[in-house]
Parts: sequence; structure tokens; C-alpha cells
Amino acid sequence: MTTTGPSIAEAWLDEHTAELSVMRRTLHAAPELGRQEYATTAFVAGHLERAGLSPKVLEAGTGLVCDVGAGDGPVVALRADIDALPLPDEKDVPYRSQVAGICHACGHDVHTAALLGAGLALASYGERLPGRVRLIFQPAEEVMPGGALDVVAQGWMEDVEAIFALHCDPALEVGRVGLKSGPLTAAADTVEVRLAGPGGHTSRPHNTVDLIHALGTVATGLPDALSRLVDPRAGLCLVWGHVSAGIATNAIPREGVLQGTLRVLDKAAWQDAPDLVRRVVEGLVSPYGARADVTYLRGVPPVVNDPAATSLLTAAVSTALEAGAAVATAQSLGGEDFAWYLDHVPGSMARLGVKPPGLERPVDLHQGMFDVDEACLPVAVRVLVTAAVAALTTS
Ligand code: NI
Repeated sequence: MTTTGPSIAEAWLDEHTAELSVMRRTLHAAPELGRQEYATTAFVAGHLERAGLSPKVLEAGTGLVCDVGAGDGPVVALRADIDALPLPDEKDVPYRSQVAGICHACGHDVHTAALLGAGLALASYGERLPGRVRLIFQPAEEVMPGGALDVVAQGWMEDVEAIFALHCDPALEVGRVGLKSGPLTAAADTVEVRLAGPGGHTSRPHNTVDLIHALGTVATGLPDALSRLVDPRAGLCLVWGHVSAGIATNAIPREGVLQGTLRVLDKAAWQDAPDLVRRVVEGLVSPYGARADVTYLRGVPPVVNDPAATSLLTAAVSTALEAGAAVATAQSLGGEDFAWYLDHVPGSMARLGVKPPGLERPVDLHQGMFDVDEACLPVAVRVLVTAAVAALTTS
């Protein structure tokens, strides 16, 4: 069965490779922000419906899910994210964004076009598939809370055996795919500590709460304590980005605030972090008598790739592409809401090489000059189709 996926992809690509680029450029020129992807949703739905499929738009009206294949048998999911970023497109290309201040600077146009191509290729094989492939065109990856939570909440993971996704990697040459078992991205949460006291004269700190002293103790003491209370291998790091308190040189203020981000590579440490932060803050301020309010906003957990799913995806890359295409990749400190699916279903996300051969200094994601070598599109179709068919066959 290992040759089935590549042959399904090849048969479709023989006729449609140029269309992939047209689809990607159409999406690129008309980017939409998270939860506003109405035209993108209609564009994808139109292509799927013309292939005889029945896409289901998510409840909030953007993003869609579409099953391809036979009614019975296992279900395997492929996921693309469809939203763009609030950044101006700085490229001088015919397909540049036509929407001021919005740009597909994270390659989600590529993810969407590639999954659409993979879905159409699988649809051409239709009922002969040994199960169903669920295409997930997820909205709102770039905003919090992310659209992955909507897909999960609406029940689309309940019957899924495994899920796979690709994300553009501007540092990796086109034709290659970066794979990693275990953690691939990091968690990034927001922490705010607000201290309050009665205020007073700086000549008599002992009669009140020396709020700035207490705030300074938390500012340095909390990151220090975390570095000793959490396994250093978890890579937890709290860095403040904002601190403010007080106005006058001789008045102790009533309120002060610290705001920062907490990043962590390890999922268990991420789960424990909010309680630990609250506990340490309480301990640090209690000698001073200040009142502490901690607001801990969850971002996303790390993407933790399942070993078996990653082996399957690696084998799919090796089967579908040229020798040497499957390469190792490293964990990044970026966040990615694909992580939420992996709370429910084993799966794996890989990095899709999009760097033109020989380019020395590729532009990073989330920059207005970011672009891809479109040879990545058929590569992505081959990998997605091959992985999905292999997963259905082994389920
Ligand atoms: Ni992205």
C-alpha cells in the first residue's frame, strides 16, 4: 500500500500543479485576519463542492471541515490554518496583498492551497480510500484563543485516529521536510502581577507597605525562584516586558504592576506554571503585607509530536519525495495552536521547506517580505496525501 499515496498525488499533480500556484496566489492577494476569513472559507468550499465534496463551515462562519473517502473505516485528519497577519505586505510581486495592512506572512496561504490540493487529489480517488480523510481548514491560528479550540469543541476530533500538518519553514530548502518526535514548539503565556497597599510617605515605609520594594522583590525574585523550582530541562523562562508604579519621589504608591511572558518547552511544566507562579508571588510579598493579584493568561501549550505518528510522517516523506528529503528539525520557542489537537489525538506537525535553493538570508516568518518558493506546493501535496493514506492503511 505504500505506493498508493504517492501515485494518488502524482496522478492529480500531473494535471493540476499549475492550479496549486494559482490558488495560493489568489489566497495571498486576498488575506483575511483570524475569525474574519469569510472569503477564504467560501473560496475553499467552492473548490471542494465542485469536486463533489460536502464541506461543513464551522459554527462561527469561518473555517471548514470536509471528509473525503468512504463512509466506514478509520478517520485521519489533515490540518491547514487559513488566517493572515495584521502586517503590511512589503513584496513587489503580482500576487501581493490587495488588503492594506494584512498579509499572509506566516505561509497560511501555502498551507491552505496545499491542503486543498491534497483534498482534491484524494477526492479523485474517492470511495476507494480505506477510510476517510478529514480536511480541516482551521480559522484563527494567529489569535488567542485559537481556532483549533473551536474545531475540537465542535466534535471534529472525536472519531479521528491521527492528525498531521505542515508549517512553512523559511530556513529549510524547498524539497525538504523537517521532522521531530516530541516537543516541536513552545508554550507562551502572559503573566500580570498587580500589587496594592495603602500608600504613604517615603520617610515612614515601616508604617505602610513599601510597594515598590515589594514589586522589585517580585520582579527579580519570581524569575529566580522559578529557575530553582522547575526542572531546568523544561526551559521555563519568565521575562518582564512592562513595569510601572508611582509618580512622586517622596510618596509610596498604592499600586504597581508587572507584565511579562512565560515561555516553556515542556508540557508538564506548562500545566503546573499558573499555580506555581501564584504560590511564589504570595510567598514573596507576604512579609511586606502587599495585596497581590496574579492574572495568568494561557497561550498555547507546546506542540508535542507523537513518536508513532512522527515515524509514519517521516516514512511518508521518504516514500513521497527524493532521498534525503526527510531531515531533523529543532524545537522552537514559537507558539502554534496545533498543540490543542494533540491533547485529543496523536499526531505530528512537520516543517515544510520553502527556501529557494541557494538563498543565503531567507526572510523569517511574520515579516512583510516573507515569500516562498512555490515548488513547495506539490511537495506538500505529496507528503499530505501519502501520510493520510499510510495512516488509514495502518489504522
Ligand atoms: Ni503560522
